[in-house]
Amino acid sequence: MEHIKPHSLGQNRRCPGCWKMLTVAMCMALVACLQAQELQGHVSVILLGATGDLAKKYLWQGLFQLYLDEVGKGCSFSFHGAALTSTKQGQEFITKVLESLSCPEDMVPRRCAELRGQFQQLSQYRRLRTNEDYMALSKDIEAQLEHKGLREAGRVFYFSVPPFAYADIARSINSSCRPGPGAWLRVVLEKPFGHDHLSAQQLATELGSFFQEEEMYRVDHYLGKQAVAQILPFRDQNRKALDGLWNRHHVERVEIIMKETVDAGGRTSFYEEYGVIRDVLQNHLTEVLTLVAMELPYNVSSSEAVLQHKLQAFRALRGLQKGSAVLGQYQAYGEQVRREQQKPDSFHSLTPTFAGILVHVDNLRWEGVPFFLMSGKAMDERVGYVRILFRNQAYCAQNEKRWVADQSQCLPRQIVFYIGHGELGSPAVLVSRNLFRPSLPSESWKEVEGRPGLHLFGRPLSDYYAYSPVREQDAYSVLMSHIFHGRKDSFITTENLLASWVFWTPLLDSLAHEVPRLYPGGAESGHLLDFEFRGTQLRFSRQQLEQLVPGPGSAPKPSDFQVLRAKYRESPLISAWPEELIAKLADDIEATAVRAVRRFGEFHLALSGGSSPVPLLQQLATRHYGFPWAHTHLWLVDERCVPLRDPESNFQGLQAHLLQHVRVPHYNVHPMPVHLHQRLCAEEDRGAQMYASEISALVTNSSFDLVLLGMGTDGHTASLFPQSPAGLEGTQPVVLTRSPSKPHQRMSLSLPLINRARKVAVLVMGRLKREITMLVSRVGHEPKKWPISGVLPSSGQLVWYMDYEAFLG
Ligand code: BG6
Repeated sequence: MEHIKPHSLGQNRRCPGCWKMLTVAMCMALVACLQAQELQGHVSVILLGATGDLAKKYLWQGLFQLYLDEVGKGCSFSFHGAALTSTKQGQEFITKVLESLSCPEDMVPRRCAELRGQFQQLSQYRRLRTNEDYMALSKDIEAQLEHKGLREAGRVFYFSVPPFAYADIARSINSSCRPGPGAWLRVVLEKPFGHDHLSAQQLATELGSFFQEEEMYRVDHYLGKQAVAQILPFRDQNRKALDGLWNRHHVERVEIIMKETVDAGGRTSFYEEYGVIRDVLQNHLTEVLTLVAMELPYNVSSSEAVLQHKLQAFRALRGLQKGSAVLGQYQAYGEQVRREQQKPDSFHSLTPTFAGILVHVDNLRWEGVPFFLMSGKAMDERVGYVRILFRNQAYCAQNEKRWVADQSQCLPRQIVFYIGHGELGSPAVLVSRNLFRPSLPSESWKEVEGRPGLHLFGRPLSDYYAYSPVREQDAYSVLMSHIFHGRKDSFITTENLLASWVFWTPLLDSLAHEVPRLYPGGAESGHLLDFEFRGTQLRFSRQQLEQLVPGPGSAPKPSDFQVLRAKYRESPLISAWPEELIAKLADDIEATAVRAVRRFGEFHLALSGGSSPVPLLQQLATRHYGFPWAHTHLWLVDERCVPLRDPESNFQGLQAHLLQHVRVPHYNVHPMPVHLHQRLCAEEDRGAQMYASEISALVTNSSFDLVLLGMGTDGHTASLFPQSPAGLEGTQPVVLTRSPSKPHQRMSLSLPLINRARKVAVLVMGRLKREITMLVSRVGHEPKKWPISGVLPSSGQLVWYMDYEAFLG
């Protein structure tokens, strides 16, 4: 009653009936409220790890916000802070945290104090250690419900505890603390959810034995950030404008960025195990990536539809390779680790604190559009954003001074979901004025007021339609509300989690021993961490200044030789450092191709698989614009008996590193028919004979213009292996063979067919090849022992291309 102002009481005196009506109305409201409570029931929230850092910083505040939002709407609440700490200490801790809770700015202080008081009354600490403790908690909740005559709506268990504690807690909840029939259980889980695909799967299986999928809410707090949560609704509400724009024809690149100024000091024991990719790229940035890249579901508020579209986006992601990443580590990190973990001075950490990753989405919408993901600690600023930069094909006839933001097509065109911090200092959605005026829900987003002098992404703020949230909300508060309302689309399902680990684990494995570039941190890092992409490779834009200190008997340096010409097995040998060698070979292939096309109208090139040719293919794809691709036929020297789409397939390598970047007519591409009648390399399917017929039909005299071979450490070449006679001699041009390593079954051109070629180039790279190079230099014609020694074109030319490591060791 206190809040009825005196003058309104005076008005009531003048209207005696009004007071009565008001009383009746209030009673009705009270009854309705009690009925509603009766209707929707009681929710118990149990915060596990209630005395930890996350709870202190965000979770208690999030729970309080939930209470503020929901109070009087039909549910009653109790909040149980739980931890292993003694009851006395825990209660003291919680009392302090609860005193510091804040209300939204627009709430009058008295109302805030009143509600905070109620929240404090409803919140208690209890120690939860043993199974019995969980049983006791359940009994207490039941007793409270009975005492107050309340129906139980559900229980939320928020796990803010380290993952090693998950299983025990989950077991106790499942066996002793589930709510009664008709009430729901929601368990909220905080990352890390595993360290790689296998461990994530194990953890998921374990949790799955205690909880149903719909009971689990895995948090990625970036999904609670307002700008991130706006991506799908924005795409939905602006479908008309975006339909024609959101694709490879218009988007030049997408940047998904999270820079932090803080470093990992104080949490190196966690960080050493995870590093930046596991800590933020595998989860936060990947989630954002899928929201941008996925096909837009018809109904964006259907959790199931969103999940299915996300999974589809994951399937379209091109596998990452070592060359897709650049890594850095801020200079003070090593010392922090040694200090915090008492490591010896000799200990050097390889954990990256900075990573830039180049992602490609191989579908019709995004093919060829680079997605940059980047995050780092100890950077020059704290900021997070997703920036979609559009291509610009316009030319503006007037002088630049006369370009007007909403009319000139020559100004940059971009859409930015500004996650927070940075120059702007708040979340925002920005759309260049020369794109379109976006539509955002006016009850929750408002236009940003002008900030003269503020530039974002190279343009004054006034160049954008800029919107920010009417009420800025912390991510955890948003997520608490979504948990309460059962909105699962803001959480990570098991399938979603595993799909992300499937994507990241191979890269993490391949980078395990990679030495990150050191950076001073803050503004001092200068341009050291700038990176750029070439084809499918990402690399730092600047060379790191390295001093080569030549020691006794030191390896030759690039300056010691250029390209060396010599003889190997009586044929010409070209040797150089890998980059020059690849450049030389690519030039030679192009020259051969140009000559062949000039003379015969076409060029038949047979390529080997494996890792050595990859840089060559990339070189051809990105540097050889004069290559006569339209007249080139591509053949395979050998193939593994796996489906063509399998990453192990040689054809897949050709597709990934060459075909998708150049224009070879489809009918000129000749994969080996290893997969016929839904089986692999069955003799009866006669795949080898089919390939031989195709060659004889299209290649004059079955004589390829150029065959590119490699040499294995056992002396094998193509898929012709020592001690296995198939293909070494005889009349069959194409044969099925067996490899000592998996996959064992192979298809290969035979030695006689290879030797009919006009030119054979053998590419040998890397230190591992050193021994076989030495050996093969001395042996005669012994193809049964060393199939490579049988390569000797009958009328064509043989040229060896070896890098210095293979040739000189
Ligand atoms: C967490 C990471 O998930 O996100 C931290 O573990 C990181 O390392 C934090 O600092 C960043 O979150 P925010 O909300 O500050 O951008």
